[in-house]
Amino acid sequence: MENLTLCVSRPSSGQDPHKPVLVKSQLLAKLPENHVLIKIDRFGFSANNITYQALGEAPHFRYFDFHLAPRANGATPETHGLIPVWGFGTVVESSHPRIGVGERVYGYFAPTKYLLVPVSPSDVNKFSFYIPRPHLPPGTLVVTYRLQPAQENRRPYNQVIRCVSDDQYDPSPLAEDLTMLYRPLFWTAFWCENWLNAFSYRGADSFLISSASAKTAFCLAYLLDKRRKAEEKAIKVVGLTSECNIAFTSGLKLYDSIVTLESSGQLKPSTGKWLYIDVAGNDKLNKRIAAHFGGSGSLVACVQLGLTNLSPSAPAASSTKFTTNTTLSAPDRLSGPFETEQFFMPEWLAVQRKKLRVDDIRAMQTKAWQGLVRDGKDWVRIEHVRGGPDIERAYRKVAEQGTDPKIGMIWSLWNDMEFERRASPKL
Ligand SMILES: NC(=O)c1ccc[n+]([C@@H]2O[C@H](COP(=O)([O-])OP(=O)(O)OC[C@H]3O[C@@H](n4cnc5c(N)ncnc54)[C@H](OP(=O)(O)O)[C@@H]3O)[C@@H](O)[C@H]2O)c1
Repeated sequence: MENLTLCVSRPSSGQDPHKPVLVKSQLLAKLPENHVLIKIDRFGFSANNITYQALGEAPHFRYFDFHLAPRANGATPETHGLIPVWGFGTVVESSHPRIGVGERVYGYFAPTKYLLVPVSPSDVNKFSFYIPRPHLPPGTLVVTYRLQPAQENRRPYNQVIRCVSDDQYDPSPLAEDLTMLYRPLFWTAFWCENWLNAFSYRGADSFLISSASAKTAFCLAYLLDKRRKAEEKAIKVVGLTSECNIAFTSGLKLYDSIVTLESSGQLKPSTGKWLYIDVAGNDKLNKRIAAHFGGSGSLVACVQLGLTNLSPSAPAASSTKFTTNTTLSAPDRLSGPFETEQFFMPEWLAVQRKKLRVDDIRAMQTKAWQGLVRDGKDWVRIEHVRGGPDIERAYRKVAEQGTDPKIGMIWSLWNDMEFERRASPKL
């Protein structure tokens, strides 16, 4: 059976990392023991995936080592990487005794038609199964969250969710699309808000969120607003976006006000205690914010949440270099009379798992997810791109122009003719 995969060059290969290549390869005739072959129906694509790509070879992340590029048509795992994507698929072959053919699954997959993954023989339960990745270090960043360091922070990436037992799963095509677009970003925003709230927002009553048009950013604004209404908190949330994305960001009605890079000087440090949530990772902008708040003491903390400015088409603003150099450095830490911290959801979730019952976490998440689907289904226009050549073009456009926040991109390597969605996938 033939496979088709979108690959990009590894920065260490010396090739242009943004020139995509479609690679045809042959699937194994017989599965090794304890493996499943997943037909990847479709997946979401946003700045988040570009960040995975940018950190593909970064030592603490190694996102290119989650699924290896095929060895075919000039591509090799040493020279090429697969950009991880969140998507839905169906198990079409299985050599694992507890996973059946036809089962619908959701997970951290790759841009390909078929994905072969090993499954841990024992780490299978009715909710999920796990892909063993002993070649990857267990932890990524050293983040303590003032409680205790969490160890198993790669688990969400290694977990494949079995839709049949997933409280949040709805088989309708729209619900699946919203899941692929929002689930990884919404949970980051959800647990980030939960983390900030656990520490009383560090005493802040005003939030400034950069790359405010990004899904991760506006989901956080949405969650802050929900808590404000539920608990009558007196807070304000200001979005910081680019000139070209003002109309979209204001139209969401999730921020109390919007400023641009140019108008950020109008922010009034004296009007409260500020928490800056940085989704852009733009050093120039961050230095301007730090200088603006200066020694006023009103900026209590800066939380690094995203790196949208790692996009290849972004102005050369971030010091995190996206080059052929394999030793990629983190953006400059902001310095000033405030704390700078990095939020990494799997680590905070691991901390919460030790405090809360699994059923309580599940109930919290289901309630929040239902709210998002109800309130956010029209925030972006969903656009489907199908078939290798169109996917290659769409990727090039993102690499050259960045992502358009108005559009929620759902991609598939299967073309229209091949894309026959199972009328009723077996759960
Ligand atoms: N820490 C974590 O665990 C975690 C988890 C999930 C996501 N994230 C991160 O959050 C960030 C946002 O991801 P997303 O998927 O939510 O983004 P998205 O919805 O695709 O966001 C698009 C926005 O990113 C900015 N952007 C995109 N391309 C750009 C370019 N070439 N130059 C400058 N800005 C550009 C623009 O925002 P503006 O014009 O408003 O700046 C654009 O509207 C990513 O860096 C992602 O990795 C982190």
